[in-house]
Formats: sequence, structure tokens, C-alpha cells
Amino acid sequence: MKALAVLKAVAVVLLGWAALALPGWAQTPAQPVDVLHWLTSASERRAANQLSAILAANGVQWRDAAIPGGGGMAAVKVLKSRVLMGDSPDVAQLIGTTLTEWADVGLVLPLNAVASRQRWAQTLFPTVMDLVSYNGMVIAAPLGIHRINTLLYNRRLFARIGLPPPTTWAEFEVVVRKLTALGIQPLAWSDEPWQIATVFEAVLLSDAGPALYRELIVQRKSSAWMDPRVERALVRLRWLRNINGETPREQAWTDAARELLVGKVAMMVMGDWAKGELMAWGASPSKDFGCVVLPGTENTHLYSIDTLAMLANGHHREATQEKVAELVSSTPAQLAYNRIKGSVPVQRDIDVASLDSCARDSWASFADPRTARVPSLAHRMAADESIKDAVAQTLWRYLTDPRMEPVEAQRRLAAVIRAPTAER
Ligand code: GAL
Repeated sequence: MKALAVLKAVAVVLLGWAALALPGWAQTPAQPVDVLHWLTSASERRAANQLSAILAANGVQWRDAAIPGGGGMAAVKVLKSRVLMGDSPDVAQLIGTTLTEWADVGLVLPLNAVASRQRWAQTLFPTVMDLVSYNGMVIAAPLGIHRINTLLYNRRLFARIGLPPPTTWAEFEVVVRKLTALGIQPLAWSDEPWQIATVFEAVLLSDAGPALYRELIVQRKSSAWMDPRVERALVRLRWLRNINGETPREQAWTDAARELLVGKVAMMVMGDWAKGELMAWGASPSKDFGCVVLPGTENTHLYSIDTLAMLANGHHREATQEKVAELVSSTPAQLAYNRIKGSVPVQRDIDVASLDSCARDSWASFADPRTARVPSLAHRMAADESIKDAVAQTLWRYLTDPRMEPVEAQRRLAAVIRAPTAER
């Protein structure tokens, strides 16, 4: 099975993307589409190039409008202003709740025809199908599933301390003590608010468990934020930020990943796009680094699903936009793209044997009915941009003001989290 998958992957590389051309599409003159996205790091760029090559082999020209900035902070702002000015791109990396909001006001092209041709209802994971469905419409093409509760570690440094990666917080503390004694910084850290929020939600899932996490993040019950388990997560977050013994600073997630690769730090809590980046730099998940789930988050999958929406913009490119949706969600594109991006395919009937071990674990966990799958707030899966930003800012304030007690941060978080029904 594995050999067959590898053979298929090799055949795709050898034959080139023309091998993936859908019948009849390669012959017509290339149709352009403007694509706005934030896939700009080394791995992200390669993953986008992969999609662009697949489209090119099928007569679609990807005109790139990439906006750098981790977590899409800048891209989403640029996209909003372009839409307001009546200059919407044809395709946009639009994810999570932003997607439903835009679909609600008719800015997104429904993709029901593509979804039924490709039998998305039968082939996609139900969580993914739900995410791209709204009021009977299919509103985006899914690209891949990222896992946020990921702990990456440097294998060389762990061999030096002679310990396996931690599976509990008690083991984590032992690891930290050993690393510190050897003068090695334990954890990559960045004070960028979106990165703080990314680490926080993984820690929150660990301390609160999936049931309370859902009350806090999905149902957004203000009162639940005063729970002592939230306090514990906030205390742990502050501890994690300070364990390097250095004044924490803001840095791009790629710079933090670089510190892990060169052995400046031993661990990193980040979505598995960081794994994609390490691999793009030539590192191997079996030799150079490893990935496990964050302590206390076994049997849970904290996900962020990347999607491409086709925007309704009067360019009369609907047929080409549908073609884009169909191509990016085809099986070969899913495998080729996700192998580079660090995420996993959105399909439940796909053979993932050719992916790396971290990806296989993530996919198997997402597919397992016993796994609690919970959405990321920091990456827009659970609440809109303004709530996500308010939470990230509140966490940033809490961490950068040592006088703020966790209970005060809890009060402020309870205030910025509004229940979904209160929004409408
Ligand atoms: C997330 C996105 C990922 C990755 C990450 C870092 O929001 O879903 O694909 O790009 O930001 O920029």
C-alpha cells in the first residue's frame, strides 16, 4: 500500500503536472484568476506554487496577490479594503467565520455544482463539509487541515538530555529543568498577539479539556471564563513565556522555527505549518525534529482549516473559479499541497501513507471518531476577526503587564467574548 502511494507520488513528479490535467481543459487558452493569500514563508510559497502549477497544467493562470504576515493579519485587512473599493480578487484565502459572514452578504460564489460533481458530502470529513457549508450553499474549496496543539522538539537536544518528549506537564517541567541546567533555552517564544493566542488556545484545551473549551470558545459563555481551569491555563501561559529567562520579544513565527532548527531552543508550540517550514528548509521529522501533541491534549485535535473562497466580483470568471475549486480539492492536488504545507488532506477516503509521520498522526487523529475535534479561535474557526483580535490583545496585555492578575485577565476575556447569538 505504502509502496504504491510512493510510486504514485514519484509518477506525479516525473510526469509533471500535465499528468493531472483534467480532460479538455489543457487545450483552451489560459484563463487568469487573481489570488489573494498570505502564503509567503518558504513552505507556504512552495505550497502555493504547487497549486499554481496544477492550475497552469489545466489552463488557469494564477495571478499572485500575496500579502505577507503570519496568521493572515495583514492579508485580511487588505482583502477587506479591496472588497470595499469594489476591487475583489477572484480567489481569496478566506477562512472560518469570515467566510460565512461574507457568504451571508452575497460576496462569495456558491460552489454547489463542484461539490456535487466531486461528491464532497461523501468524501470530505464532516467537520470540513460543515465549515464550507452555509444555508444550503457550499462557500469555499478546502485546502488542508492544520493541527494547533502541536509540540515540536529538536531531536539532537532531547538526545543530549536523554529524555523523551514530554507527555505530561510534570514531565515538561523536568525537561525544562534539564535543558536550563545545560544552558539551553527550553521554548521558542514570540509576543506577537496572534502567536500568543495560538499557544494560549492549545494550553487552554490542555487545562480545560474539550467540554469546557467548547463552552468557552464555541458557545462563548462569558460566565465559563471565570472557571479555575482558565486561571490555571493563564498561569501556565505566563510560566511558558518566562521559562527562557530572557525578556520575551516579538518575532515572526518563521524566526522562532529557525531557532528550533539551529538548536537555540528545544521546543516550540505552534500549528503544524511550522513543521512544513522546517521540512522546506531540509529538516527531517524522523532525524532532526519530532512532533507530539501538547501535554494534556491527547485524543483532541485543535484544528484550523485553510480554504479558498471564490469571490463574486463581476469579472465573469465563474467557470474558471469553479475550475480552481475543483482542481485544488482533487486528490493529487490535496496530497501534493499538504505534503509541503504541513497540513493534512480534507478527504476521509484518501491514502496518506506517502505523508510524513506527523501528518499521518494528525490525519488519523482527525479521522478517529473518538477524537474531540475543536476549532481554533486564533485562526478564525470559532469567532469573527474582531473577537479573535480582542482576545489576542487581552492576552498580550496580561502577559506584558506583570501586575495583572490572572483573575483580571479572566474578567476581561469574559467581557470580550460575546455569545454567537448576541452577535446577530
Ligand atoms: C494560519 C493559516 C496557516 C498558516 C499560519 C501562519 O492562519 O491557517 O495556513 O499560514 O496562519 O501564517
